[in-house]
Amino acid sequence: MRALVLDDFWALSVQDRPDPVAGPGEVVLRIAATGICGSDLHGFTGENGRRRPGQVMGHETVGRVESVGPGVDLPLGTPATVYPVLACGACPACAADRPQVCPHRTVIGVDPARSAAFADRLVLPAANVVPLPASLPIDLGALVEPLAVGYHAARRGDVTPDDRVLVVGGGPIGQAVVLGARRLGATRIAVSEPDPDRRALCTALGAYAVAPDELPAAAADALGGPPTVAVDAVGVAGTLADAFAATPPGSRVVLVGMGAPRVELSAYALSTDERALIGSFCYTAAEFAETAAWVGTAADVVAPLVTERVPLSAAPDAFTALARGESTASKILVRFEEDA
Ligand SMILES: NC(=O)c1ccc[n+]([C@@H]2O[C@H](COP(=O)([O-])OP(=O)(O)OC[C@H]3O[C@@H](n4cnc5c(N)ncnc54)[C@H](O)[C@@H]3O)[C@@H](O)[C@H]2O)c1
Ligand SMILES: [Zn+2]
Ligand SMILES: [Zn+2]
Repeated sequence: MRALVLDDFWALSVQDRPDPVAGPGEVVLRIAATGICGSDLHGFTGENGRRRPGQVMGHETVGRVESVGPGVDLPLGTPATVYPVLACGACPACAADRPQVCPHRTVIGVDPARSAAFADRLVLPAANVVPLPASLPIDLGALVEPLAVGYHAARRGDVTPDDRVLVVGGGPIGQAVVLGARRLGATRIAVSEPDPDRRALCTALGAYAVAPDELPAAAADALGGPPTVAVDAVGVAGTLADAFAATPPGSRVVLVGMGAPRVELSAYALSTDERALIGSFCYTAAEFAETAAWVGTAADVVAPLVTERVPLSAAPDAFTALARGESTASKILVRFEEDA
């Protein structure tokens, strides 16, 4: 099969790799499409230290069941997305239904030892296969993973219909937070985003889009009052400062963006103002499954999130253009069926 191999930082190539075989309890998916995630880009450039040369990346994916190992009862051809977290199942985090923070977790597309989704085929435990309705245009199944990230972030912020929500950053994760907040009933949602195309996309998703330099007044004007919860989907010192400045004392600020490994922040914005700063990482298995079910009914809502599709042969150039900041695309899907 073909696989997109990270030969070195800033160097990807399409190579021939052995086809994976489904062992007991496993499934082989024939991949239809895999999304390029910001974390793949930072892995490509070597910035985040979370990807290694020689590995295959890819965790936002969708395909069809091609073969199953002993003990698996799943019809061949079933369209399915992938819950990419593999946790130990035995630690306190797992017992508390938080596999995403299990100290022994591995993640498909991150762990170099695991089969990953920028390849024609992916082998994985059957428990991580999440079937999708046949009526959903199959590519859109690759959006379930980032949409689950946004849903979890909104839930970490305890978003309710009564909230006024500010999302800082209108990239794919910020867009997913907007849709996650909407699923929790919020109707007053503002996004701060410098890029006009991304602002337009966020407006189409039902949010008020403002430029960061218009904060905090523009968000409060749009929402009919200051935000009661802010979600930082960028994750640098300046965006956390924006989230603090836009929200009144006592509010919740969720940090889902991972733009910098260290940030300096106002201690008094937390202590004397009693803001709660809440971390958010991935999603639980239940949130992932709920998001897959929701995407199955919301093709029209999520379709605009995909701004470009490329065949596998064009994936190295797409990574390079995105990493150099030369592409204006928001979410690019790599399609495996196009030049197979
Ligand atoms: N915690 C998690 O589970 C998780 C999962 C996936 C991604 N992430 C992280 O989330 C972050 C966002 O991911 P993405 O794919 O949307 O990335 P992205 O880079 O495509 O989007 C970031 C957006 O922020 C905007 N931006 C930059 N400076 C800004 C500012 N000062 N104010 C407002 N907006 C600003 C950019 O224009 C861009 O549109 C990344 O750091 C990524 O690593 C976290
Ligand atoms: Zn991702
Ligand atoms: Zn565990």
